[in-house]
Amino acid sequence: MFLVTGATGGIGRKVVRLLRQKENLVRAFVRLSSRYSELEHRGADIFIGDLQVEKDIEKACRGVQYIISAHGSDSDALSLDYRANIELINQAKANEVQHFVFISVLGADRGYEDAPVFKAKRAVERYLAASGLNYTILRPAGLASNLLPLAERFRETGLYLLVGDPKNRTSIVSTDDLAKMVVDSITLEGALNQILPVGGPEILLREDIPRIFSRIFNKDPIVINSPLFVVDGLRNAFGLFNPQVQQALGTYRTLLSNEFFCTKEEIANLERIFNFQVETLESFLRRYLAV
Ligand SMILES: NC(=O)c1ccc[n+]([C@@H]2O[C@H](COP(=O)([O-])OP(=O)(O)OC[C@H]3O[C@@H](n4cnc5c(N)ncnc54)[C@H](OP(=O)(O)O)[C@@H]3O)[C@@H](O)[C@H]2O)c1
Repeated sequence: MFLVTGATGGIGRKVVRLLRQKENLVRAFVRLSSRYSELEHRGADIFIGDLQVEKDIEKACRGVQYIISAHGSDSDALSLDYRANIELINQAKANEVQHFVFISVLGADRGYEDAPVFKAKRAVERYLAASGLNYTILRPAGLASNLLPLAERFRETGLYLLVGDPKNRTSIVSTDDLAKMVVDSITLEGALNQILPVGGPEILLREDIPRIFSRIFNKDPIVINSPLFVVDGLRNAFGLFNPQVQQALGTYRTLLSNEFFCTKEEIANLERIFNFQVETLESFLRRYLAV
């Protein structure tokens, strides 16, 4: 039995689909408010709970052999990115789980002081690596599926909002490729006890993204380049009455103001371990936008 947290999220949903296609038993950890009927339809066992409640984690882990931690947090990095994962690892040990896959983030090891999610991910990585469990830690760059709503808006308006430096480099990863790696990590020896940066095959500049949209939709882009101090202004304003949102914006600012890309060698290593070629952003978008 596989336990998948974040089963209704961008990555988790695809992981559950892949596992069910291979007829694995899957327990999908979802909230009552989550949109989980598709997962139920595919034969996943639905576990309703809240990852902020320790008892729910303890119950969800009973009798599972594999745990895939693919949940995220909107603004509460301490309780979701940190505590929930530590508890999942403790329960994995208690249940003698055979393999634990953790979705971290590219740059988790760079010590970004202002980004609670990055700090939580790094702390969890260390805890997992020292746990004695078999593990795989995947550190993705940005997910291609995040760009689908922006592409849809571009299709209608030709507009693209680019916050921060247009020359910053990124390696957007196909969400389908990442989901496949998550599932294959459990069986492939090359992925055992590894921390792997995960990106797409090309190093893109952020300004390449509207160019790709433009090619796909055959439409000239109108790029609005907003400076980072707009985010700083928002952070200061929110900080006056909501410190959690201020912290979340710290993670967001870190994402916007730094480069998140994989080297050619890292991608070659990934393709060797998982034995497939990762797809380009353009190919991913064309598949989903049917153009
Ligand atoms: N998106 C990216 O570009 C990116 C890049 C690098 C790393 N990552 C990491 O990859 C992981 C998955 O990202 P994603 O984009 O797939 O996430 P996502 O689409 O934002 O989904 C988050 C998931 O977590 C669940 N969740 C949130 N709070 C919960 C709670 N209290 N109890 C139970 N479930 C809860 C959500 O459930 P609901 O459906 O109920 O909201 C949802 O299923 C995250 O750890 C993220 O940090 C993402």
